[in-house]
Amino acid sequence: MKLAVIPGDGIGPEVVEQALRVLEKLHPDVETTEFDFGARRYHSTGELLTDDDVAALREHDAILLGAIGDPSVPSGVLERGFLLKLRFLLDHHVNLRPSVLYDGVASPLAGEQDIDFVVVREGTEGPYTGNGGAIRVGTPHEVATEVSVNTRYGIERVVRDAFARAQQRSKKLTLVHKTNVLTFAGSMWARTVDEVATEFPEVSVDYCHVDAAMIYLVTDPSRFDVIVTDNLFGDIVTDLAAAVSGGIGLAASGNIDATGTNPSMFEPVHGSAPDIAGRRLADPTAAILSAALLLRHLGDDAGAARIEAAVAADVAARGDQRGSTTEVGDRILESL
Ligand code: IPM
Ligand code: MN
Repeated sequence: MKLAVIPGDGIGPEVVEQALRVLEKLHPDVETTEFDFGARRYHSTGELLTDDDVAALREHDAILLGAIGDPSVPSGVLERGFLLKLRFLLDHHVNLRPSVLYDGVASPLAGEQDIDFVVVREGTEGPYTGNGGAIRVGTPHEVATEVSVNTRYGIERVVRDAFARAQQRSKKLTLVHKTNVLTFAGSMWARTVDEVATEFPEVSVDYCHVDAAMIYLVTDPSRFDVIVTDNLFGDIVTDLAAAVSGGIGLAASGNIDATGTNPSMFEPVHGSAPDIAGRRLADPTAAILSAALLLRHLGDDAGAARIEAAVAADVAARGDQRGSTTEVGDRILESL
């Protein structure tokens, strides 16, 4: 396994270190290449992600990313110039974000709710394409647009992926959108779901407006199994999903090119948390669970399940005494 590792900024290196220990425990032959992308490199060279960088990343089977982002860089520069650029160039059209409420985890809903669903967020379209502009900037008549780009091709491939996942799980798919207002894109999403549904007759299909879906996510999350939604709704939905299933410290994600043409990238949903960086306070669990998603993507289902079981045991035992970044890693390794 050839693995590209991008520790990144803030707590990124600390959590990636623990995820790597776990991966190396299960796959001692893993070959890693470290890339120094992020704020430090941007300040010293002015570079975010060059063509050569992308070519080098493509030589790997998968990418493990910690976090990118630093207060010393203006908002949007690293996001657009690095993270989103990489997701787009590597065609990461399936942004996979599972939510599982493990036993013993503190959640606003814990004890009352059964949470085990996965959000399949479209990853290469929507308002994230940067198709917008502004005129009369700084005047009282300023106008700004961010156009949400939705293609039949882009919707169909992510919808088909979501159906295939639903088929492997509880056979229930929910489209989350806002078809009553976003009528053009909404209609295309709804029609595409209906058409792809004919290929998966065992999967039952539901639809929720995104605002109502946020109520259900809190009052009745067990109604969800696989949610499919666009890039921006998916961004928002998955932060709430993380909050109700134990917080952002446990939320893992995969940016997947389901065709396998490009390496997929696995990263915790959380950011670089500069306020706690370098103090070994960060919870590496989300990064470790992202490593499990990575293994499952590469076909090692058993390895992924072992990591998830070790995490489940650890979060059940840790209570509110989580301990340092390294201590969490130590315990999970021990249990493996
Ligand atoms: C995420 C993040 C990114 C996104 C940002 C940092 C560009 O919030 O991975 O959810 O909006 O996709
Ligand atoms: Mn987000």
